[in-house]
Amino acid sequence: MTSTATTTYRNLLVERRGAVTLLFVNRPDVLNALNRETLAEIESCALAFAADPSQGALIVTGSGEKSFISGADINELAVLDPRGAEDISRFGQRVLASLARAGKPVIAAINGYAFGGGCELALACHIRLAAENAVLGLPEVSLGIIPGYGGTQRLPRLVGAGRALEIILSGRRVKADEAERIGLVNRVVPRDQLLAEAEKLAQAILKNGPLAVAAVLEAVDRGLSLPLDDGLRLESGQFGILAASEDMHEGLQAFLEKRPARFQRK
Ligand code: COA
Repeated sequence: MTSTATTTYRNLLVERRGAVTLLFVNRPDVLNALNRETLAEIESCALAFAADPSQGALIVTGSGEKSFISGADINELAVLDPRGAEDISRFGQRVLASLARAGKPVIAAINGYAFGGGCELALACHIRLAAENAVLGLPEVSLGIIPGYGGTQRLPRLVGAGRALEIILSGRRVKADEAERIGLVNRVVPRDQLLAEAEKLAQAILKNGPLAVAAVLEAVDRGLSLPLDDGLRLESGQFGILAASEDMHEGLQAFLEKRPARFQRK
């Protein structure tokens, strides 16, 4: 499989392996903390991925052995005034939305510490795999602030309000096995297999109809903030739209002819 590296980012390493983009947050001196520049680069990488028809899945991970992302860069937080604080929160939310709304699967491969903004970034991804050494948490209240990149909204949607409040209000650390048990991560895998497992999962998704995959992401993402009846209408709408696609015809026909489907994103 061809692998190409790009060096256009200062704080990210981006590699393309076939149809899978790997994004490494790469600020080893601060355990991959997210400063404003890194956030901007993540957004630009996510938008480029979304717009690139050759790319079908994105894996986000951290460089090094120890940390996924240690959180927002505390050096930048320390000098914020109220206006700046609200602005950086909205900006961080927008950046993470560029992952959540990429229209293609985004997998977090959590290879160590995922605190604060790092945990929130993982929450914005569609699927989370964690290495055995992963530790997650939203310790913001211990710093006198609150999660500002979506943590107060996405964590309760994922694990329920009671668990989310306990985690956010205590600021405590959640180890990989507990994270798996409460649904904060999908699965824990051995450290040395994390990226291989993430790629395997990406490849499994890539075998499926890309329009159908995009429709599921849209239905789940938008549906989560809708009343059930409206969400069901959204689902039916997506179901109807797909019926106009060549891919739907191909997928069903391939099953009947007992052969693999050849989807064309049409
Ligand atoms: N922002 C800025 N710098 C950070 C950082 C962050 N979020 N997290 C770690 N760093 C820096 C440390 O200040 C340290 O810098 P130094 O070498 O100049 O002293 C370096 O990264 C290594 O961190 P260190 O604390 O020595 O590593 P550790 O293995 O002992 O602990 C953590 C790792 C992640 C537990 C610890 O760094 C930590 O608690 N970080 C803050 C996590 C957090 O609160 N995130 C939410 C922010 S809203």
